[in-house]
Amino acid sequence: MERLIFDAHAHYDDEKFDTDRDEIISSLPEKGVFAVVNNGVDFETSLKSVEFSEKYPFFYSAVGIHPESVPDMDISRLEEYIDQIESLLDHEKTVAIGETGLDYYWDIPKEPQHIVFERQLKLSKDTSMPIIIHDREAHGDTLDFLKKYCPKGLLHCYSGSVEMLREVFRYGDMYISLGGTVTFKNARVPVEVAKEVPLDRLLLETDAPYLSPVPYRGKRNDSSNIIYTAQKIAEIRGMSVTDILKFTKENACKLYFGV
Ligand code: NI
Repeated sequence: MERLIFDAHAHYDDEKFDTDRDEIISSLPEKGVFAVVNNGVDFETSLKSVEFSEKYPFFYSAVGIHPESVPDMDISRLEEYIDQIESLLDHEKTVAIGETGLDYYWDIPKEPQHIVFERQLKLSKDTSMPIIIHDREAHGDTLDFLKKYCPKGLLHCYSGSVEMLREVFRYGDMYISLGGTVTFKNARVPVEVAKEVPLDRLLLETDAPYLSPVPYRGKRNDSSNIIYTAQKIAEIRGMSVTDILKFTKENACKLYFGV
């Protein structure tokens, strides 16, 4: 099977993989998976991402601090956390800073989230590493930060509107990724987005173990399920599944590997 699936965003360090992680990961290439970018959410999981990338040839790592990790931090020691993250950036298979961003769904104070996100945007600029951004119910502020920093990066599991999409591409060198939500029965905006996003700006992701596409909605997700998301987007755009997989793989290689 030709390996065309590039999973732009996943979390295989999650405890949901504790019982059979190696088995699942090792089976991915024969199911068509070309590459996976595992994302850290704090130093510990970022280090795990780097370890996976050493163990599995097709794994790459993103290292960063997620907004949901902010409540566990002592913000006055932010530079120490950043130094830790920065120490992982030199690794040959680290391809991005992330996952970082803003989350207004959970009750997490906004100000420290802004400080931690902004510091990583600066780090991304200083090191020329792409940044992987989580935006959950924080579209306005996320856009403001994009305007301010014009980063190169990925707005992962994009949940904004078509109107916002046009704004996103005006600032910096941004891509978006779509995952299982586009296949959900009640999906309306993600379907519009899948139709409108320029083909050279689209990536596919799982956010595994979360957000499994139909027909596995609610079950544990893994990168081989990207085929269902690709099928849905192919149907929406009137294209072949192979073409969707090829274009999104090319875009991910461009973003993460610079080729
Ligand atoms: Ni994630």
